[in-house]
Amino acid sequence: MVAFEEIIRQIEQSVRSLVFNDPPRSLFEPVTYTLSLGGKRIRPALTLMAYNIYKEDIASAMDVALGLEVFHNFTLLHDDLMDEADVRRGRPTVHKAWNANTAILSGDAMLIASYRLMAKADKEHLKPVLDLFTQTALGICGGQQYDMEFETRSDVSEEEYIEMIRLKTAVLLACALKMGAILADAPEEDAEHLYQFGIAIGLAFQLQDDLLDVYGDPKTFGKNIGGDILCDKKTFLLINAFKRSDARQKEVLERWMGTSANPQEKIAAVTRIYDQLQLKRLSEEKIEAYFAEAMSHLEALKVEKGKLEVLKEVSHLLMNRKS
Ligand code: IPE
Ligand code: IPE
Ligand code: MG
Ligand code: MG
Ligand code: MG
Repeated sequence: MVAFEEIIRQIEQSVRSLVFNDPPRSLFEPVTYTLSLGGKRIRPALTLMAYNIYKEDIASAMDVALGLEVFHNFTLLHDDLMDEADVRRGRPTVHKAWNANTAILSGDAMLIASYRLMAKADKEHLKPVLDLFTQTALGICGGQQYDMEFETRSDVSEEEYIEMIRLKTAVLLACALKMGAILADAPEEDAEHLYQFGIAIGLAFQLQDDLLDVYGDPKTFGKNIGGDILCDKKTFLLINAFKRSDARQKEVLERWMGTSANPQEKIAAVTRIYDQLQLKRLSEEKIEAYFAEAMSHLEALKVEKGKLEVLKEVSHLLMNRKS
């Protein structure tokens, strides 16, 4: 079994070895910039950890793992443009440091580069790898479209929110895990449990992201606090604020929707209502429920329990993350 720290070390080394040196510099500089700013590297780590349940030579799964990380970073370039986010990983976003068109085109280049990495899978696994990747990537586009459309709707249900985050976030974590299983020739049933583990942990992960967007520490989070509130993102918090508020609180919430004047005041007013309704606690309970569901899928794998230690350790780390 390879330890988590060693997995991350190998991923970082492999990310650094990716070269984007072709001209024009202006297209590839933002790619290197983004990939060099770190991040948790959780998706490639999930691929390698899932692979490592069945096989030891984790280097064989590295190209596919890297492909998922490059793809994830591509989604961030476009996501930050759509979310009008100025800061990521503690640094200016690409559309701020360069401009919007650069974020679009450098993002496109990263998407294509991620396919090039996926296509390095050996002949025997190539088709399942590309099929899963393509289906996942299209799902994420759907999730991002829902996310944007929900901004201007006031009747988004909790069920719709869960489906939106399943698509925009959870399917990529699930895909990362299943890729490891596919490459390691794991039994089909195990691959499906790993996928469902990824969905549940991914839902918990996005609920946590939404929570950190309000309650995170600006020093460690790496993104501006309150960004979701400013965009009227229909998060678990906002949906439940509307559902549980009294007439006076509802009036305050409605007054702030659709306005971007006085951003700091808006963040403070909406956060105050979240506090009054104790929505942080409610959100944490939901996260815990998905975490438990995720664990039940791990327990269902037909492998020695010791093989699951690293994945379990990382799952716990993720639930307590600060960034
Ligand atoms: C950010 O993903 C986008 C979401 C799905 C919430 P991460 O939180 O994994 O970002 P990095 O890669 O660690 O920066
Ligand atoms: C991101 O959701 C999902 C994707 C990038 C596909 P968010 O918009 O919440 O992610 P952050 O908070 O900007 O990282
Ligand atoms: Mg965003
Ligand atoms: Mg977004
Ligand atoms: Mg977010």
